[in-house]
Amino acid sequence: MIGNNPLPTIAPDAASLYQVAANRLLELADHALAEYGDFHLALAGGSTPRGLYGLLARHPERIDWSKIHLYFGDERCVPADHAESNYRMVRESLLDHLPVRPHVHRLAGELPPARAASEYSAILEKHLPARGLDLVLLGLGDDGHVASLFPDSAALLEQEKPVVANYVAKFDSWRLTLTYPALNQARHILLLVSGTGKAGIIRQVLQNESGSQAYPVQALQPRQPLEWFLDAEAASLLATR
Ligand code: 6PG
Repeated sequence: MIGNNPLPTIAPDAASLYQVAANRLLELADHALAEYGDFHLALAGGSTPRGLYGLLARHPERIDWSKIHLYFGDERCVPADHAESNYRMVRESLLDHLPVRPHVHRLAGELPPARAASEYSAILEKHLPARGLDLVLLGLGDDGHVASLFPDSAALLEQEKPVVANYVAKFDSWRLTLTYPALNQARHILLLVSGTGKAGIIRQVLQNESGSQAYPVQALQPRQPLEWFLDAEAASLLATR
């Protein structure tokens, strides 16, 4: 254990990282499909998960996508076809390649942020089962943000709403993000982190001797311990003892 998290899964390179993460995602999907007949998954944005989504897209027969509900952990406040759109990244890397379309619940980045957030709250209310999200995929920023819960941003303080519009000063732009209440109710959370650029934050967060909660990821209070999936580069500053 590191902190209250089980030891991270460390893959030798990004390709094998995507494979082990895909195996875990599919295992959780199989369990949910067998037990409940559906699987409710919130996807991460950014660039890291593109490789994981591409791997899933290359083996579409592995699960019945008609029983899968896809949500988004966060979105940039841009149209769905914008280069910065997380939806566009997911569409290009996964959705466009699936023979059977899943239920896709998109965060409407094109809308005024507050309206997009309240509409997504209604979507979550309508489509999420009582058990909540089965799995949330998250990346990790080098500042320790997850979804669009950035350091010193107002969304960190939200304790009621499941999704909010969040002004991110470092980008001088608005984001839409699931909040801690929404993330913490998920049955499983899987963090996917790749590359030497994340080695510093990984060491800060996973070898956090002080027990501080300096970074947004550390304020997560998941129902199950966080599952960390790293490649060797991201894990390269972890002390081996
Ligand atoms: C986003 C993501 C964000 C991402 C981290 C890591 O919209 O950008 O949801 O939380 O996971 O910023 O991004 P990379 O995977 O690109 O390093």
